[in-house]
Amino acid sequence: MSKIRAAITGVHGYVPDYVLTNAELEQMVDTSDEWIKTRTGISERRIQKGEGLATSDMGVEAVKGLLEKTGTSPDEIDLMICATVTADMPFPDTANIICDKVGIKNVFTFDINAACSGFLFTLATAAKYIESGSHKKVIVVGADKMSTIVDYTDRTTCVLFGDGAGAVLLEPSPEEGYGLVDSILRSNGEGRHYLHQKGGGSLNPASPHSIEQKMHYLYQNGRPVFKAAVSSMSSAVTEILENNNMSKDDLAWLVPHQANIRIIETVAKMADFPLEKVMINISKYGNTTAATLPLCLWDYEDKLKKGDNIVLTAFGGGFTWGAILLKWAI
Ligand code: UT7
Repeated sequence: MSKIRAAITGVHGYVPDYVLTNAELEQMVDTSDEWIKTRTGISERRIQKGEGLATSDMGVEAVKGLLEKTGTSPDEIDLMICATVTADMPFPDTANIICDKVGIKNVFTFDINAACSGFLFTLATAAKYIESGSHKKVIVVGADKMSTIVDYTDRTTCVLFGDGAGAVLLEPSPEEGYGLVDSILRSNGEGRHYLHQKGGGSLNPASPHSIEQKMHYLYQNGRPVFKAAVSSMSSAVTEILENNNMSKDDLAWLVPHQANIRIIETVAKMADFPLEKVMINISKYGNTTAATLPLCLWDYEDKLKKGDNIVLTAFGGGFTWGAILLKWAI
């Protein structure tokens, strides 16, 4: 019997209505539209506003749209995994909350925290449940409300991030050869010093001291992260192609994590890959952490053709990074 492969059979996304422009950020911190655009490629990002709204609510919109689009009823779903670093609360998991709000009952759920590589790690994990034959319809969500951990007085980080969510449906591929082919997933804890959120966990639980020290905000030392992002994503892309006896010419699309246009361009250049075949939407959403990859697939959905070979790649806090090779199945 041939191996069961997990195929993406639907994709949907959601971004909040509020647009935070570079012009507005110019009023908040000492920055300029010119600096932000040339150093990062970001023109605007979306921010979730409104009392009582959280990461799960963006996930809910993405999942509702996905169910509708794919003609799937909530009771058909047997697993949901959510990638996020901005869970609604430490527990229960955000996937659990999304399922409750969408009406998906008595289902297996959990969250994965791999920062900006979260969607990559989660997609590969979800695929194992399909490949093992234990699960048939799995939803993978990447969702982050970065605005809740961004310090809007710190110009080095507040211009970079936005809020959003994306979701895909994974099913056993109906046709042989389609779906997830291979993955490379890596972590190196030495990188944690350069990109993290110190407060809110068991090391520094919330206290007047943790608040005063701004420990609940994201911290990033950008330059070393930039360098590691370029080298890690480039080598992951090269390695996954080599492992599968493929060249860059066999690829229809490269889908990189959207953290900085200069990182994306450098990774493409190092792989000698034309930018026309690289999914890029950073200018309108900024870095939405776990949501960047599904939001790219959502935005480029119309351009994707059945049989396209696609490599997804990401890099994030941890450090975490990797690549997934898949053959588009719809
Ligand atoms: O998604 C997870 C992974 N994250 C990433 O991949 C992000 C990786 N890092 C980066 O994308 C870049 O390092 C940044 C966009 C964060 C920063 O760009 P950079 O070219 O590395 O700038 P820098 O940190 O070296 O700073 C250069 C200058 C500094 O001024 P001085 O010290 O030269 O006077 C900064 O203070 O730019 C200044 N600067 C700004 N100026 C205007 C930093 N942020 C801003 C700003 N507006 N928003």
